[in-house]
Amino acid sequence: MTDLLAKLYPDHLATLKQRSDAALAKADCDHLVVAAGQPRLQFLDDRPYPFAVNPHFKHWLPVTRAPGSWIVYTPGQKPRLVYLQPRDYWHVVPDAPAGYWVEHFDIAIIRKPEEALALLPTARERSAVIGEDNAALGNMLPNNPPEVLNHLHWHRAYKTDYELAMMRVASRLGVRAHRAAERAFRAGASEYDINTAYLNAVHETENELPYTNIIALNQHGAVLHYMDLNRAPPAHSNSFVIDAGANFHGYASDITRTHASKQAGEFQDLIDAVDAAQQGFVEKVQKGTNYADLHVHAHHVLACILREQGFIRMSAEAAVASGVSGVFFPHGLGHPIGLQVHDVGGFQKDESGGTIARPPGHPHLRMTRTLEPRMVVTIEPGLYFIDMLLAELKARPEAKDIAWDKVDHFRQYGGIRIEDDVACGETAPENLTRDAFAAAA
Ligand code: GLY
Ligand code: MN
Ligand code: MN
Repeated sequence: MTDLLAKLYPDHLATLKQRSDAALAKADCDHLVVAAGQPRLQFLDDRPYPFAVNPHFKHWLPVTRAPGSWIVYTPGQKPRLVYLQPRDYWHVVPDAPAGYWVEHFDIAIIRKPEEALALLPTARERSAVIGEDNAALGNMLPNNPPEVLNHLHWHRAYKTDYELAMMRVASRLGVRAHRAAERAFRAGASEYDINTAYLNAVHETENELPYTNIIALNQHGAVLHYMDLNRAPPAHSNSFVIDAGANFHGYASDITRTHASKQAGEFQDLIDAVDAAQQGFVEKVQKGTNYADLHVHAHHVLACILREQGFIRMSAEAAVASGVSGVFFPHGLGHPIGLQVHDVGGFQKDESGGTIARPPGHPHLRMTRTLEPRMVVTIEPGLYFIDMLLAELKARPEAKDIAWDKVDHFRQYGGIRIEDDVACGETAPENLTRDAFAAAA
């Protein structure tokens, strides 16, 4: 793997340089200065929140634990890494820079954060300084010029071969852990113990994961972001939603599967229908597909399933037009993914900025751009039985066309979500998630 990454990295770096050259020109800046960032302390305390590195920093390097470090890129010059290895006997000091990327940087090691100042550009006013407010050092203040960020965020959607390779690994790690979690579910484990099985298999701490695991048994699957972990197993675990990913050198995978027990054949039938529909949506991750259109298409297909399986009596068209499909599928079809699980730029109109609005009535969609090769998005349709939304529906005129006995019976299962990470290719999509499951089988 390291050999492959070493081979792909120079082109990745060349791409970042080209993008940065164009971004800096737009803002009339001479230098790009990227702060890794600083940990934040909890209120009235000396304990830091988990450190999350600036995604712009880890775009350049597979380094995620280097608070107080900086990257400086000046067009035409070798990028500089100002790397903080503090004198500190309280904490582990970041490892010395090593690996395939080191030769591509001019590296300066510092022992105190303020030593960076002498190594950063002196022409502060000619620098685009990317980072959070708390990364400010002396008069090196993050200014995050919108022209620079918009350009970089737009192009970040297009993954380099190096990034695709990283994301394939992140998918494989997540899949390995999903398989362990499914085994724990089938053995009757509690949510807490299933999560432990996941963590043991993924071999990452909770802070290293790209997001908090969702491990939901039975009706807990109806809470879209269920993040409690019950210590005791239910008497019968008949359904299981697991939304959990992995991190590889700062790149995320985001994977959801829904499982039914052998006793819950009726729920398995619904899972199978959503699974088939999901694979149909994945097939449409093709050059030229507008993601917002795909989301609306998903509403129609899911409404057909609700009708065919006897949950609603109205037509699929009426279910979508009246918002009934949104009661059962109340989130977006997916989002861009990469350096962040919900990656930036999903609504951007072009490389200069702007916004492509969500379709009316779909307030939770996170992506409205048209798909092009090298974009990676999640495809994560779902169907849920959510008490709060069903209670609202019961008060509406459309309630007469709902098969309430059936709907109420399915509340015990919570819901279904199936989520893959998919790269848009030139001719066919690459399903990073299903490829990883196939390889693991
Ligand atoms: N795991 C959060 C999401 O699927 O977007
Ligand atoms: Mn997702
Ligand atoms: Mn997810």
